[in-house]
Amino acid sequence: MESLQQIKERIINDINNSANFAETEEKRIKYLSKKGEIMLLLDQIKEVPVSDRKEFGQVLNALKDEALSLINGLKEKYSEKVSEKIDLTLPGRKYDTGSYHPLNLMKDELKKIFRQMGFSVASGPEVETEYYIFDALNMPSWHPARKVTDSLYVEKDKLLRTETSSVQIRTMEKGKPPFRIISPGRVYRNEKENATHTAMFHQCEGLYVNKGVTFSELKGTLKEFFKTLYGKDTVVRFRPHYFPFTEPSAEVDVSCFKCKGKGCALCKKSGWLELGGCGMVHPKVLENVGIDSEIYTGFAFGLGIERLAMLKYSVNDIRSFTENDLRFLDQF
Ligand code: DAH
Repeated sequence: MESLQQIKERIINDINNSANFAETEEKRIKYLSKKGEIMLLLDQIKEVPVSDRKEFGQVLNALKDEALSLINGLKEKYSEKVSEKIDLTLPGRKYDTGSYHPLNLMKDELKKIFRQMGFSVASGPEVETEYYIFDALNMPSWHPARKVTDSLYVEKDKLLRTETSSVQIRTMEKGKPPFRIISPGRVYRNEKENATHTAMFHQCEGLYVNKGVTFSELKGTLKEFFKTLYGKDTVVRFRPHYFPFTEPSAEVDVSCFKCKGKGCALCKKSGWLELGGCGMVHPKVLENVGIDSEIYTGFAFGLGIERLAMLKYSVNDIRSFTENDLRFLDQF
């Protein structure tokens, strides 16, 4: 009987220590289920000497009742706490989900359009040697872009790429023509930042080299791209220009889609928006990567991704793309 008293104390204590609803239920199973400790003790009643049996039964049955009411009480208490916490009349809590960065949206759209025209996506390193940025692209040693003031050097002969055109060389070095690639990516310049310039921005290079590629294919490709991006009515024009790695070279403009060419603040009253450079790959560039320029010709172009996005989404400060202001980013 004495040890029965100890058992009772231990069990009641243990049940009292339940900290929540689930623990209380565990205790019920532990002590009061068919295989629970109290029930197993009750099963042993037949082995108790007849003289003690009555008392043994009474004590155990009392313990069973006490344990059960204790458990029921605790359960009631804990379930009350839970229901106190949940107020079903409150409005739901809004969870903020992430959104795509506008430059990524722009990049994805650009890739989609060019992929439909048969271009694949290539990439190259952001830290480059002078060879890939300048020499191989036919940029003579006197060219102003080679000056340390315009480029960001990491060490001698290693700089952050100033243009994605280096990927043209890396792509052509690796294989045999035909090549039909675009290469979107980050570029860096030693630039004072303002509403239209940042020291880091994105370009998308394009390159198509094959037998008999012509300037009209270049025009057709860029026209198709801009019409898909900005709408069917977009007019594309090419202005003669100079780039060391293309000959002939051109700058490409599209008719202002805001004023339809009439002249507004966006196009600075000119009716046109300047969007990139392009041209026929210079024979020297082809020769630099071992391609016979008598057999192969090609075109190349370079587009500023921030500029494309600023026009498409009406963003008027290029710095918005890197400031990480959620009020700006949430709109996309
Ligand atoms: N690399 C030129 C720049 O950064 C852009 C460019 C112009 C790329 C003409 C080209 C091209 O491939 O043909 O200003």
